[in-house]
Parts: sequence; structure tokens; C-alpha cells
Amino acid sequence: MISPRVELAREKLTENELQGFIVSDRQNIRWLTGFTGSSGVALLTCDSVHLFTDSRYTIQASQEAPGAVVHISSEPPIKQVAEKVSTLGCEAVGFESTVVTVEEYRQLEDGAADVRLVGLAQALSPLRAVKDTEEIERLRKACEITDAAFSAIQPFLKPGTKELDILRELVYILTGLGAEKESFDSIVASGPRSALPHAHPTDRILAAGEPVLLDFGAQYQGYAGDITRTLFLGSATDEFRKVYQTVLDAQMAAIAAIRPGVPGKDVDEVARKIITDAGYGNSFGHGLGHQLGLSVHDGPALSPKSDIVLLEGMVVTVEPGIYIEGWGGVRIEDDVLVGRCGAEVLTVSQKSLTELAV
Ligand code: GLY
Ligand code: MN
Ligand code: MN
Repeated sequence: MISPRVELAREKLTENELQGFIVSDRQNIRWLTGFTGSSGVALLTCDSVHLFTDSRYTIQASQEAPGAVVHISSEPPIKQVAEKVSTLGCEAVGFESTVVTVEEYRQLEDGAADVRLVGLAQALSPLRAVKDTEEIERLRKACEITDAAFSAIQPFLKPGTKELDILRELVYILTGLGAEKESFDSIVASGPRSALPHAHPTDRILAAGEPVLLDFGAQYQGYAGDITRTLFLGSATDEFRKVYQTVLDAQMAAIAAIRPGVPGKDVDEVARKIITDAGYGNSFGHGLGHQLGLSVHDGPALSPKSDIVLLEGMVVTVEPGIYIEGWGGVRIEDDVLVGRCGAEVLTVSQKSLTELAV
């Protein structure tokens, strides 16, 4: 039986008048064929799917990608696929122009001199954007583990603890709860470091009277959860309360605006207006949220520049933040399934202001 994903992807061949499409992005290869190895290239033609890899993956490739013809060689996969499209006599073949390196492109040109190479940017992204039932189940489970880990880590958020110690516990907790691994490098940012949206944990020691921001997720069967919560160690200051409430209002209003047919930039605008009206417009520099799936950043979604229109079955994050250098930051992030009538929030951890005992 031909997989529905392969059938969908074949529409790209017809649309672009191609006889083949070379897929190099690892998550796209996984989505299309099931193969999870670290080295490989797939080739989609109108009547077959080929997977080119090396002998480290002989067993794995045949187990994971039963619908593909597996080719094992010590030659780089890009050379293997170039030779294949040449021997198949393809006239025009697509490749992923945002993934293939200059060197790989040269190898393709050399190995497939008679084939017209057509660069396609993000061709599979729209197909991956709407999740199928199995993907939604995996994302639900990833979010469930992520929520459970957020509960379990809270006893470790104490003055005197290092950010890196919290990271170590978090990874231990995530994998203990059934995650394969973190879905991305977790963020543990305390005090003024919470103003760095993508802070790496350091040996900074948490102190009473400051915020601590956690941004992390479980990866479950390849699918990424992604949550952010910002807590306060002790009694929150008035300014922290004001900033926190602004971010929370923005996040909840944006979630309420999500439904199929709504442009992603309109949802961003709902949150951005609340933050701007409260006087913090210049302190919210990033977009409101991204798509979620096999990658944590599975594609653009909610931002002022987004041209995405929300569709039923998309999963997106909603993560407004206010960041003030030298003071700190607040971000609140949830993962949301776009349902027929509106948003279903998949991460359900408490998000009212939490003041931890110190
Ligand atoms: N820190 C990754 C994200 O939330 O998008
Ligand atoms: Mn995040
Ligand atoms: Mn995110």
C-alpha cells in the first residue's frame, strides 16, 4: 500500500513537472519514509521511493522504511542518488535548496550531468504542517510528559541551586517519564538572565527575590513538546506581577483567537497589541509562535511576517515574552492543536503566577 504521505509528496512532482525529488532534510526523510538514521538521502519518483545510506544502517533502514528501496553503499548518499537519477533517465529532478550544501550540489551536478536540477525551498513543509492522527497522538504524549516534568522539577527550583544542576535534574526527569530525550537544548535562566530568550543554563546560583524561566520539552517517538513557564522565587515584586499579567493576558487572548482560517499574523497581532498597550512593545522582539512536530521549530506560524493561514490539524506554540535587560524576563509558552472550532491547548501546566517558597 502506498503511504498517504508519499501520495501527497508526489503532487510536488506533478506541480513542478519533475520525474524525481531528492529529499535531504532528516526530518523530511523520516516523515516520508520512516528512516531515522543520521546519514541518508531519499528519492521520490512517480512510482518508487529510494533510500540511499551506508552499512551502519542496513538493518535499521529495512526495518524503518519498508516502503522504500534501500541502497547501501560506502559512497556518499548524494553521489548515490545522482547516479540513480542519471540511470533512470530523469529529465528534471527537484532537490531541497535550503538543505543541500554547495559541495553536495556540485556532486549532484557532476553525477547527474544530463539532469536538470530544480531547487525547491521547503516544498514538504506545507504537507507536514497538518498533522495526521498518529502525529497528534505522539504530540499529545510529548506534551503530557513535558507537563509531568514541569511538576516534578519544581522542588528543585530553590535559592542556592545552580541553573546547570536544574538542567541535569530536568533531563533525568524527562527521560524517566518516557521522553527519548529533550526536544531541544533546555533553557534554565534565572534572575537577569531570564531576559535572554535563548539563554543556555550556566553555573549561576538561583537567589530569592528573582524569576526563574524554564523552557524545555520532551521528545516522544520523534515528536517535540515545548513549554515555557516563568516562576518567582519568593514574593513577586509589583513590577514582576505587572509584566507577568501582561504576558499571560497576551498569551490567553492569542490562544482564544486561534481557529482554522485565521492568518498567523493576526494571532501574533492580538498578543502584540496587549503587550504594546501595556508599554512593553519594544521588549517583545520575537514572533509569537512556531509550528511543532518532528522538529521543535517545524515551520513558521504566528509572527508579524507570517504568511501562514491556520488549518485544522496544525500544532503551534503560543509564547509571548517581555524581556528587560538587567532586570529579567517573562515568557509563557503552550502548545496548541488547531481544532475545528478553536484551540485545544495540549500543555496544561498551571500558568497563574507561581511564587515558590524560599
Ligand atoms: N526555545 C525554543 C522555543 O521555545 O521556541
Ligand atoms: Mn520553548
Ligand atoms: Mn517554542
